[in-house]
Amino acid sequence: MSKQLILALSKGRILDETLPLLADAGITPAEDLGKSRKLLFDTNLANVKLVIIRATDVPTYVQLGAADLGVAGKDVLLEHGAEGLYEPLDLEIARCKLMTAGIDGAEPARARRRVATKFVNVARRYYAEQGIQAEVIKLYGAMELAPLMNLADEIVDIVDTGNTLRANGMSPRELIAPISTRLVVNKAAMTMKHAQIKPLIARLTDAVGKRR
Ligand code: ADP
Ligand code: PRP
Ligand code: MG
Repeated sequence: MSKQLILALSKGRILDETLPLLADAGITPAEDLGKSRKLLFDTNLANVKLVIIRATDVPTYVQLGAADLGVAGKDVLLEHGAEGLYEPLDLEIARCKLMTAGIDGAEPARARRRVATKFVNVARRYYAEQGIQAEVIKLYGAMELAPLMNLADEIVDIVDTGNTLRANGMSPRELIAPISTRLVVNKAAMTMKHAQIKPLIARLTDAVGKRR
């Protein structure tokens, strides 16, 4: 019997774009994900199962081998680190940018800049590379509020249309990294289950290519 593959999908906005891409690659869940409280799903392919988890948990599942493959934003991967993971394919969905941002017109003046973000590792690395002293403050959401409340001088967050920043009197400053959603594969699984994983990557690569 063919070895089982577990593919971990990010819940939330990535999922809405992942399912049509999987469908284009010939992979469909055996039941309606939206109508179920289940987290583990069969697919039309006998050897492929899906798990639907928090976006930030996907790299952990794949790194530790609980899932063989995963779909995760590059932002989440940059924050988590690449240990134990291959990143063979850019799925070219959920495109956005990781940026610094601050209140319109305000200069990031103080010697030690206070930076609010959920991407603390990315932020520490970025400001260190820039030679800027930063005190990084961990938040779990609504980063755009932090400068308004004088909790921070600047934020590091996802920017797409810029609407969230604008609505809060803020503007983007520096680009840290362009972001899109990536396929990741557990390094050991890539070797042990190569015969199953290779055709799956090929199907997804074709599906991405056909959309260009
Ligand atoms: P979370 O609850 O962690 O914010 P989301 O579902 O909102 O999860 O976002 C998941 C991923 O989608 C992010 O890691 C990022 O890669 C991407 N993303 C987030 N915000 C946007 C956006 N405004 N536009 C496009 N992609 C986004
Ligand atoms: C994301 C991100 C920004 C916003 C950027 O938030 O954290 O706040 O989108 O997009 P924009 O530039 O098009 O406004 P999301 O909508 O995912 O809300 P969240 O705080 O629940 O993650
Ligand atoms: Mg979000």
